[in-house]
Amino acid sequence: MKTTASVPTQMRATTFDRMLAPVHRWIWRDAERRVHKLIRFGETETDGGRDILRAAEVTSDPLLRRLYLVHAIDELRHGVMFRRRAAALLSELPTGSRPKVQADWLAPGGHGLDELEVDEESDETMLAFLHLSEKAAASRFWVYRNVLQYDPPTRAVFEEILHDENFHMNYTLTQLARVAPQHHGWQLWRARMSRLWKGYLRVASAVAGVMASVILTVQYFVLLSPFAWLAKRAARKELPGWTPIPPERNDSLKRQY
Ligand SMILES: [Fe+2]
Ligand SMILES: [Fe+2]
Repeated sequence: MKTTASVPTQMRATTFDRMLAPVHRWIWRDAERRVHKLIRFGETETDGGRDILRAAEVTSDPLLRRLYLVHAIDELRHGVMFRRRAAALLSELPTGSRPKVQADWLAPGGHGLDELEVDEESDETMLAFLHLSEKAAASRFWVYRNVLQYDPPTRAVFEEILHDENFHMNYTLTQLARVAPQHHGWQLWRARMSRLWKGYLRVASAVAGVMASVILTVQYFVLLSPFAWLAKRAARKELPGWTPIPPERNDSLKRQY
């Protein structure tokens, strides 16, 4: 389905995503990690499709309802495509391969729709959020497609999905301008600030997790070693085997103390 607004139909990745291309290349290089990422992406797309289906139910705008339905079907199809590709890759992996670090916070998938309370959003806030989410997804998928030259089938999956994400990005902006002609810029700014704040919280919690692991590991080796040494030293002072107890403690067994 095409819309009539004069918005760009294709986009390249943002400068930030393009700068991270070498990191993404490293992340996607590993076949096991690729399988796990595709499975996760499939889940995210399917969840996003369900949320957009809910948005189609709650909106009172007939045109938006139709567009949301098309959009939801696209996202559900993306979920199937990612899972199918993951299954095909999985069947090629040697048995006994182990999962590796997924680096999800560096190479996220989907649209971040899990951060959305669909029932509480108006058409305007929903469209603003969707537009930015689709734009971010299109930007990342553009890079993922480019770094996957050595895996043409996976690259083709991203190529096809990227086409849909560009459509989602464009129709949401066109519709936002229709339902909020006076203040769609403000809605986009608000949604952008909200995404920035949630992005900051995600990065902060990931950094806090790494810091906690480092601190606990240091504590383990620095604090536990002296205690282990003291315990061993005390154990060496103990006499081996049964030890006779003093007569004053060898009293009647009829009382507790
Ligand atoms: Fe999608
Ligand atoms: Fe999408």
